[in-house]
Amino acid sequence: MSQTSKNEVLLEARKLTRRFGGLVANQDIDVTLERGMIHVLLGPNGAGKSTCINMLSGDLPPSEGEIRYLGKDITRLSAAQRSQEGIGRSYQRTNIFPQFTVLENVRLAAQSRRQQPWRIFSKAMEQQWALEKARACIEEAGLGRRVDWLSGVLSHGEQRQLEIAMVLATDAQVLLLDEPLAGMGSEESASMVAVLKRLPQTRGILLVEHDMDAVFAVADRITVMVNGQLLECGPPAQIKASVAVQQAYLGTEDSFHV
Ligand SMILES: Nc1ncnc2c1ncn2[C@@H]1O[C@H](COP(=O)(O)OP(=O)(O)OP(=O)(O)O)[C@@H](O)[C@H]1O
Ligand SMILES: [Mg+2]
Repeated sequence: MSQTSKNEVLLEARKLTRRFGGLVANQDIDVTLERGMIHVLLGPNGAGKSTCINMLSGDLPPSEGEIRYLGKDITRLSAAQRSQEGIGRSYQRTNIFPQFTVLENVRLAAQSRRQQPWRIFSKAMEQQWALEKARACIEEAGLGRRVDWLSGVLSHGEQRQLEIAMVLATDAQVLLLDEPLAGMGSEESASMVAVLKRLPQTRGILLVEHDMDAVFAVADRITVMVNGQLLECGPPAQIKASVAVQQAYLGTEDSFHV
């Protein structure tokens, strides 16, 4: 199978378990992420979604279970090593330099991925390559109009788009996004949803989101977690129709309109 074929399994987690003392935050969670797909992790507060994302990104070691990326066991790789492999994540605690322009921030992200191969190129060629790459990623993240703006003056929503551009610049094949719409107004959410929908062409996106309108606007697959357990996984229509899922949302502050 070629590297870019759609529906190729990018990331596969089996029986992921994470304990915090006596609390089981994730128990035997299976997640499969295919290229070309947006897979949404859904669940009430405290269900274990962020814990799951953190295990996949390498920020949190699993207590048990296995994670494979393109068939290779990456369970014991650090977050930095996984980033080199092609697994990118955005952090809400952002690593944007506010005094740098959008272009400079994304160019630095592009260069961070490439240490060794540049030995055969000149500094000028590296700069040129990184600038072109950065511009393309900024466009893809919907920030083309802000390319020369100082990052610190961007709106909250635009800064989240910038984070996406920075992850794209690292050549990530898998994007792990924990609540990318958090704190956004409806206009900002709409532009982020538009950006998200365009991303999967050659990649796989795993995201946590509470906003049901956004979830059903973007999801190809949904995995529902409750109390650290996997409740159900399937296409959006199946999840919408699921009595178990609807019951899990009764009495929570998350609205689940079907
Ligand atoms: N570092 C930690 N130490 C101890 N307990 C933790 C830690 N991180 C998470 N937990 C607990 O694990 C459970 C799952 O938390 P997690 O943050 O994964 O949930 P979530 O689904 O992301 O929730 P939310 O929707 O509120 O973001 C919660 O009970 C939480 O208190
Ligand atoms: Mg969370």
